[in-house]
Amino acid sequence: MTLPIAVLVSGSGSNLQALIDHIEAGRIDARITAVVSNKAEAQALARARNHGLATVTLPHGDFPDRAAFDAALLGAVRGSGAEAVVLAGFMRILGADFVTAYRQRILNIHPALLPSFPGIRGAADAAAYGVTVAGATVHFVDEKMDNGPIVIQAAVPARPGDDGASLGARILAFEHRIYPQAVAWLAAGRLSIDGRKTRLAPAGLPLADLAEAGPCLVSPPLESGF
Ligand code: GRF
Repeated sequence: MTLPIAVLVSGSGSNLQALIDHIEAGRIDARITAVVSNKAEAQALARARNHGLATVTLPHGDFPDRAAFDAALLGAVRGSGAEAVVLAGFMRILGADFVTAYRQRILNIHPALLPSFPGIRGAADAAAYGVTVAGATVHFVDEKMDNGPIVIQAAVPARPGDDGASLGARILAFEHRIYPQAVAWLAAGRLSIDGRKTRLAPAGLPLADLAEAGPCLVSPPLESGF
């Protein structure tokens, strides 16, 4: 059964675009019930409208406190009929009530190999630290920031000349592959959580050929089409 999902955004929405493209191509059995932004100027909203998707804008500054914003957010997501939530560059921490309402049904993507470099500057912090391997992580969301069980990670080289922008761009190219893959697995009912670990039910599908992608490691492996 097609999974109804809400996508929460704050910025450019390139991950939203990757999800839309894979859904429209029939590679993810989901439909986007609403794209919700806490920023009215987010380019992600224009991307959503270009594809005829419903949008909701909830500027967090318009609410008296975090709890009121969280309640409005939960109302918008629930009201759209979403059964799962995908955070795609959403720059607010979800409150406990929201996490409880959608427990084990919220995904986030972070531009670092968690648990290294959590927070809002993942790629820049990794570049500044001087790591030689960096990457992206898709994980379930719990009450703590960048903390829930990991679904998939992609690792790429970090080079001495990298700054946050150059490393972030190398990582982002893989975000656009691993996030649709993770949402496809969620929509297909192939993910289950066992403590800190995410189990992926095998499906015997062919794997993606990453020969063109340059040096990288993606685990679990990407399936064909992602
Ligand atoms: C991505 O780097 C994502 O990992 C992080 O925020 C950024 C969002 O980019 N959470 P976009 O809005 O999807 O282009």
